[in-house]
Amino acid sequence: MNDQTTLSDRADALEEKMSQELDYILVKSRLYSLAEGDMGPAVNATAIMAKNPNARVLMGDDPRLPAMPKEPTLVDFFKYRFGPAAHLLQSARHAVKAGLSDNMVLACLLHDISTTGFIRGDHGYWGAQLIEPYVDEEVTWAIRAHQVLRFYPDESVGYEYPQSYIKAFGADYRVDDYVEQDYQRMRNHKWYMSGRMITVHDIYSFDPTVKVELEEFTDVIGRCFKQPSQGLGFDNSPVAHMWRAMIRPAKYL
Ligand SMILES: [Fe+2]
Ligand SMILES: [Fe+2]
Repeated sequence: MNDQTTLSDRADALEEKMSQELDYILVKSRLYSLAEGDMGPAVNATAIMAKNPNARVLMGDDPRLPAMPKEPTLVDFFKYRFGPAAHLLQSARHAVKAGLSDNMVLACLLHDISTTGFIRGDHGYWGAQLIEPYVDEEVTWAIRAHQVLRFYPDESVGYEYPQSYIKAFGADYRVDDYVEQDYQRMRNHKWYMSGRMITVHDIYSFDPTVKVELEEFTDVIGRCFKQPSQGLGFDNSPVAHMWRAMIRPAKYL
């Protein structure tokens, strides 16, 4: 048994103990267990309830997470759900300094919201989908494209394959076929340069001493992000459930 398994087993045991003592039972979505390399069955809620009749599976807010307003805005997600967003804020400031359009500043500000708040793999596709109903098509297109274009240099704008990728993925890393196929589709698109600009202003080795506040972008968000009045997650849009998944990530059903 390696350390990872031991750690994960310990976490599960703790979770089960908590569930037996607390009045709620945590059952993780399969995706989280798979990400732990765990193919085992989910926590048996019925067995826990048999030991602790007061326990209920979590169907409401998660007491371990910060409470969210009833009608959450994009800014609320930055505050209460996305992790440290220094990378996004620094990228967006970089875009402002370069004189990019409001839409492109917003694209830089949101380009990695999936890695900060949702799912890492294919984060450009997820991130674009999350905001699709609320922004101009160019913003979504660019965020989806940055997922792909970041792997391809473009001398015309001085973009090189990031050194940090060589270190992180190894010098022999090759992209998956679907990424290459998307690159071929994207390289001649009318918004190619919008996607490319995200990669140019993506801060690959960001400076931990530079502090950028979200308030710097309140106006851009106000101008370019169509905040639904019912709140993100409750506007009956095709992506509302994805925002709700971030509000209540451990909801049982
Ligand atoms: Fe990214
Ligand atoms: Fe990024």
